[in-house]
Amino acid sequence: MNSTEKVKVHFDSLSTSYEKNYSEDKSGKTHDFRTRLRLVTQIIEQDSGALLDCACGTGEITAQALKSGNFTTAILSDISAPMLDIAKTRMTEVPVSTTVHYQLKDIFKYEPDTGMKFDVILCLGLLAHTGSLQALLIHLKSMLRTDGKIVLQSSLASHWGIRFVRLLTSKIYVKKHRYGINYYTIKDIENCVRLSGLEIKSCQRYNFGWPFGDKITRVGNYWLEVFMQGFSAECGSDAILVITHHGKTVE
Ligand SMILES: C[S@@+](CC[C@H](N)C(=O)[O-])C[C@H]1O[C@@H](n2cnc3c(N)ncnc32)[C@H](O)[C@@H]1O
Repeated sequence: MNSTEKVKVHFDSLSTSYEKNYSEDKSGKTHDFRTRLRLVTQIIEQDSGALLDCACGTGEITAQALKSGNFTTAILSDISAPMLDIAKTRMTEVPVSTTVHYQLKDIFKYEPDTGMKFDVILCLGLLAHTGSLQALLIHLKSMLRTDGKIVLQSSLASHWGIRFVRLLTSKIYVKKHRYGINYYTIKDIENCVRLSGLEIKSCQRYNFGWPFGDKITRVGNYWLEVFMQGFSAECGSDAILVITHHGKTVE
C-alpha cells in the first residue's frame, strides 16, 4: 500500500466522526475548525465563477462557500468515498444557480474536463497529508484562471505548540496510521509559492494551539482560544494563505 492509499484508509475510517470537528461543542478543536470555516468564507465571499475544493472532506466549508449562489460551477473532490458521500448530503441547500459535480480522486490525478479553469481553489487541511507542496501548487496552478486564487490552509512547523506536539506524537502517528504528517513553515510555503510562479496575496494566522489543551480541559481550551484570538492572529499555529496567479512562468 503506498502512502496515498494509507491516507485514504485513514480518512475512510474517520468519516463518521470528522463532522464533529465543526459542531457547536466547546473545545479547542471545534474552535479551530469553525475559525477555519469563518475565515475561508470571508475570504471568498466576493468571488464567483468556478470553484474547486480539492479535498472537501465532509463538505462543511464547501457548503458554506456555495450558499451565496455566487458560483456557477463547483467541483468537490476527495480521495475518500465515505467523506465525499457525507459531503454530498450537505449540498442540498446549495442554490440551483450552482451546478455541483463530484470527483472521487487523488487530487494529483485530477484533470478538469475540456481544460476548464477555476476562479477559486480551496486546499484546506490537505497539505499535512500529501506533502509535495511545490508539485501540488504547480498542479493547482495549471487549473487556476489567471487572477484566480488558491486558498491554502496549513498548520505551521515553526509554531512552538506544533513543534512540541510533533516531537511527542509523530512516531506514534506513523506507527498508528503508517504514514507521517508533513509540516511546513511559512518560509517553506513562501519558497514553494515563488518557485511555482505564484504569489502570496495574504496570510492570516489563527489558533493559539495549546498542546494537548483539549485533553486537559476541553471547555477551558475553548475559552483560551477565544481570549487569545488577537494574539493568535499574529502568531497562531495555523495559517490561511491566499495565493494568486498572475500568469507568471515557473523560474
Ligand atoms: C483534514 S481533512 C480536510 C477536509 C476539509 N477540507 C476541511 O477543511 O475540513 C483532509 C481531507 O483530504 C482528503 N485527502 C487526503 N489526501 C488526498 C489526496 N491525495 N487527494 C484528494 N483528497 C485527499 C482526505 O480524504 C480528507 O477528506
